[in-house]
Amino acid sequence: MGGDKLAIQRTDIEAEARLERGLADVVAAMTRLSHVDGVEGKLSYCGYDVIDLARYATYEETVYLLLYGDLPGSAQLSALRSELARYRRVNPALLQMLRALPGAPTSMEVLRTLVSAMSALDPSPLDKSQDANLRRAKRLISQLPTLLTAHLRLRQGEEPIQPSEDLGHAANLYYMLHGAAPDALETRILDMAFILMAEHELNASTFAVRVVASTLSDLFAAFTAGMGALNGPLHGAANTESMKMLLEIGSEANVETYVQGALAAKRKIMGFGHRVYKTWDPRAVILREMLSKLNDDLPAVHWCKLADRVQDTVFKTKALYPNVDFYAGPALYGLGFPMEAFPAIFACARSVGWAAHALEQYADNHLIRPTTQYVGPEDRVYRPVQER
Ligand code: COA
Repeated sequence: MGGDKLAIQRTDIEAEARLERGLADVVAAMTRLSHVDGVEGKLSYCGYDVIDLARYATYEETVYLLLYGDLPGSAQLSALRSELARYRRVNPALLQMLRALPGAPTSMEVLRTLVSAMSALDPSPLDKSQDANLRRAKRLISQLPTLLTAHLRLRQGEEPIQPSEDLGHAANLYYMLHGAAPDALETRILDMAFILMAEHELNASTFAVRVVASTLSDLFAAFTAGMGALNGPLHGAANTESMKMLLEIGSEANVETYVQGALAAKRKIMGFGHRVYKTWDPRAVILREMLSKLNDDLPAVHWCKLADRVQDTVFKTKALYPNVDFYAGPALYGLGFPMEAFPAIFACARSVGWAAHALEQYADNHLIRPTTQYVGPEDRVYRPVQER
């Protein structure tokens, strides 16, 4: 059937009062994990303001908070750190598979395929208990960075670097890519970016995760769905697209012409707008604040200043606010990560949010199965193919 036949006239839809386009404002789950106040521009994880977590906590503390509902004491934190570090090495079969996979447009296709393969390598696939799922969640959180960096290095013709058990989660990811540990400032930027990307209530990828979990399919299948959803430019790939845009604009002198041209042509400016925030996204605020404090000679600073000019111009022209992806782009680019891999790095950070939502869904499950409003033809008479 041609694409034009599949397209439904908007007027048909609007005539149906029950339809909420894009499920906007529909409450589809209850959660204790995070709350977004789109009017005030606030985000909290389990009751803690994300700004405080980004300023003062580590990613591992955030992982504990989202998996267990409370911040850890020092013994609990050190136990989780060791457990996550121990899980970092991956099954050699996954590395073999990685070597056999041809290149893909983005790293997410490769990472998603390996996560799916982890399901087939699960040592206890029939154990559906919450404890077993918690262990799977920790393995996924720990191993996504190992798989991603192994892929990035192999693609450059270099051998993967074995994970370090001594470094923190974000610093180890940097180390496995670059072969040297990040300095204190780089560690802080990456840790902060990871905390800010860790969880965001029922965004498209988390919804996909919960839908799959609600069928009682396994956590790897749920992650695979989440990763597919995250890789779209309207969701997690907006960070790549917004960084590409900054590179294309190049210098502050070109901002006005670029932005006015794009908006006049009705092109979306990636990294702007949000389904829930109608003001500044607090994650963009804190990332921007962090980047603005960097020394002028660091590469991220140039891109952050350019991003600020773009932000001023877009706001002045269309009253749109930037979202987290707009400032995550310069942060990751400044740390030497390839642009196409930004959504896959986002997936590494979001893995804890997905896992926590899946665990929440399993704990009090009800199949998620909405319905449609039928707007097609009715009462048609079937005729054999020769008569059509
Ligand atoms: N650039 C230009 N215009 C934008 C825009 C953007 N980034 N985001 C929204 N708009 C405009 C739309 O064109 C539309 O204008 P109109 O009413 O004149 O047609 C209006 O704002 C509403 O946009 P819509 O896409 O319907 O809102 P939504 O709630 O469905 O979309 C997003 C939310 C995130 C999908 C949307 O803002 C977007 O596509 N942003 C760019 C991608 C992005 O940064 N995604 C990451 C999100 S964290």
